[in-house]
Amino acid sequence: MTADTKTAPAGDAAEKTFTFTNDQTGESWQFPVVEGTVGPPTIDIRQLYQQTGHFTLDPAFTATGSCKSRLTFIDGDEGILMHRGYSIEDLTDKSSFLEVSYLLLYGDLPSKKQLDEFIRSITYHTMVHEQIHYFFRGFRRDAHPMAIMCGVVGALSAFYHDSLDIWDPQQREISAHRLLAKMPTLAAMAYKYSIGQPFMFPRNDLDYAENFLYMCFGVPAEPFEVNPVHARAMDKIFILHADHEQNASTSTVRLAGSSQANPFACIASGIASLWGPAHGGANQAVLEMLAEIGHKDNIPEFIERAKDKDDPFRLMGFGHRVYKNYDPRAQVLRESAHEVLHDLGIDNDPTLELAMELEKIALEDPYFVDRKLFPNVDFYSGIILKALGFPDTMFTVLFAMARTIGWISQWKEMIEEPALKIGRPRQLYTGPAARPYVPIDERK
Ligand code: ACO
Repeated sequence: MTADTKTAPAGDAAEKTFTFTNDQTGESWQFPVVEGTVGPPTIDIRQLYQQTGHFTLDPAFTATGSCKSRLTFIDGDEGILMHRGYSIEDLTDKSSFLEVSYLLLYGDLPSKKQLDEFIRSITYHTMVHEQIHYFFRGFRRDAHPMAIMCGVVGALSAFYHDSLDIWDPQQREISAHRLLAKMPTLAAMAYKYSIGQPFMFPRNDLDYAENFLYMCFGVPAEPFEVNPVHARAMDKIFILHADHEQNASTSTVRLAGSSQANPFACIASGIASLWGPAHGGANQAVLEMLAEIGHKDNIPEFIERAKDKDDPFRLMGFGHRVYKNYDPRAQVLRESAHEVLHDLGIDNDPTLELAMELEKIALEDPYFVDRKLFPNVDFYSGIILKALGFPDTMFTVLFAMARTIGWISQWKEMIEEPALKIGRPRQLYTGPAARPYVPIDERK
């Protein structure tokens, strides 16, 4: 099949079409070209099978748009990330995480009054049902906190029966607020459980990031002072992870939601998808890799291993499916990593030194340069989180906490589409063709 884009003939002047031609038969079909505000145009192929008898094959969705969305725009070649039209640099510099959350959920930056009301609602939903405390106790103490999060967030649907009707806008809103508010409480509980310390109840006098740090690092035996540099770094990490258009976990949430599953179940499916090392698990994998490399002198050996196609080793925290330029989030976090380490008086932390050296060498090596493999957001977030005192196993949990607002905003956008249709990809079947059934005593 060959293809050709052209503007449709007069009479349909505003509409562009894309023509597919069957090279064997000479038959051709036109499909509408749909343009977004910015970014490449898309070919609407919904009628492709009915008209041509063909499916498309794109297993990793490298060229397939799964939805229309007004939330987030990424230009991977230029290294641009925008939420609702605002650049990620402006948002991390000038907004708080809850302000960005409001923007993602409702479409515009809030007025002072709207923000105050939103913060109040989130603050007053941070406590979890007392019964959830017992739920935690069913887990082994050495359970990975992501395993706990998958279970506990899914279980929220068993606690909040009054916000499960996805067709009721008020119930959708309350479940969005509940998820955003309760994720830090649950994440901190997962951490406290793993180290055998008592759960800390949220404090309403603290902001979102401060409260999370307090619930993780405070103990009932003494007062806890939140370091403002750490709280700001935490808040920035939350902003930078808030949404990233149709990545694996967000697509998982949308697909789960398309079956009309409740929002708590959908977010639990996103957490499961995020867990893998090729996605949210990469920040944990970065630290594990740095520990494995051990010393600057060993970097060349690991760089060679990363290039060797027969070796499964990859430089974790490098490369991105969409960014073929510097990940703008990595740029912001690079500075933040220095600030936090400086504040903690560990400017010459051996892990950071190793990371900087690795970054320098990889950015000069033709293998990485030619393939446009730049450090991604996970490369630096792992270093900051380690400096703040989080164990590696909590890194992906923090990512899940921050991404919850993106997931729930994408879910809400999908449910509010006029025609919600269950997602159902097709396939290219490569198994055996129809064959006769062989009774067991005649099989070889
Ligand atoms: N180290 C070494 N080589 C790499 C790396 C890496 N980290 N990433 C990609 N490559 C190579 C591939 O081997 C391939 O080489 P080839 O063209 O010679 O075959 C080429 O670069 C293109 O890579 P793909 O695997 O086709 O890129 P893809 O878009 O499928 O993968 C991914 C993107 C999964 C992120 C990949 O770069 C990777 O595994 N990186 C490490 C894990 C990581 O940091 N993940 C976090 C992603 S960001 C996030 O989730 C927030």
